[in-house]
Amino acid sequence: MNKLLMLEKRLALLTLVLFGILILWGNLVAGFGAGLGCPDWPLCHGKIIPEFRSYEVILEYIHRILALLASLSLGVLLYLRYRRVEKNERLWLLLLLLFLLLQILLGGIVVLLQLPSGLTVLHFALALLIFSFVFLLWRFPELPRKPAPLPLFLYFLFFFQAILGALVRHYKAGLSCPDFPTCLGEWIPRTEDPRIILHLFHRTTAYGIFIIFIMLYAGSWIFEKLQVYRRAFLHFLLGILLQVAIGVGILHSRLNPWITMVHALFALLFLLLSISLLRFSQEKVQ
Ligand code: HEM
Repeated sequence: MNKLLMLEKRLALLTLVLFGILILWGNLVAGFGAGLGCPDWPLCHGKIIPEFRSYEVILEYIHRILALLASLSLGVLLYLRYRRVEKNERLWLLLLLLFLLLQILLGGIVVLLQLPSGLTVLHFALALLIFSFVFLLWRFPELPRKPAPLPLFLYFLFFFQAILGALVRHYKAGLSCPDFPTCLGEWIPRTEDPRIILHLFHRTTAYGIFIIFIMLYAGSWIFEKLQVYRRAFLHFLLGILLQVAIGVGILHSRLNPWITMVHALFALLFLLLSISLLRFSQEKVQ
């Protein structure tokens, strides 16, 4: 591997780690209710470096510094990669740049509008896409040309579930079903309360995902095509069981921010694991 390629790979890893920490830190900021620690944007209390009078300011300010570092790192990475690759991939890199610019703008709007739930979820969704894209750049010196449908399907399944989770969180439905496995003492509560329905949807999708992986794992012993994924399916199954336990932990702890952060960490890992299954796709960009 030549020196420039090596530098690009290291920078991609650094960018990935920075975005990972940024997302988890953002999760903590929300968990501690510090999202408006800096109520203005792009300055914080009208200053580049504010007075650190409360923990909210400290948490939110660190969030912004992390965002700055991650964005700069991604900017340089995009530049290096753009010079090296061909036209097809360049379009993807430009799309990623567009996502980054949108995300920066959206971050500001979310603060200025005092954290509207819908936009906050959109901000989270875009963060997941950028994070996933950076992982793709780190993992593959050349993007897979025809990604296999199964990893893509699994990726979007987990992406959908993560967005449901973010909706639960930002529409304050985390404790709408405070008990587990029942919800308000019933298996299927008769309700029209949208928060309860949202919460149940998040749980039910988790069970659905678990069943899908049981079927895939069983299928990997029957169908030759699925054999290569067998170990990964097992990892997913164990991970989902842990994630359910962590979800229950969130309820028992009444939304403890640290436990919620671990829940978000697992959600990120599921996305990365799904993307890494693309290594089984043979064709690459030429
Ligand atoms: C595949 C399984 C699951 C995944 C990938 C997942 C993912 C997520 C994500 C990404 C969030 C949002 C975190 C954020 O906004 O930063 C979330 C929130 C949440 N999840 Fe899950 N989840 C899963 C299963 C479950 C299960 C089974 C439960 C319940 C037993 C659960 C309970 C919750 C709760 C209560 C919240 C809201 C926390 C809050 O309001 O602070 N999750 N989930």
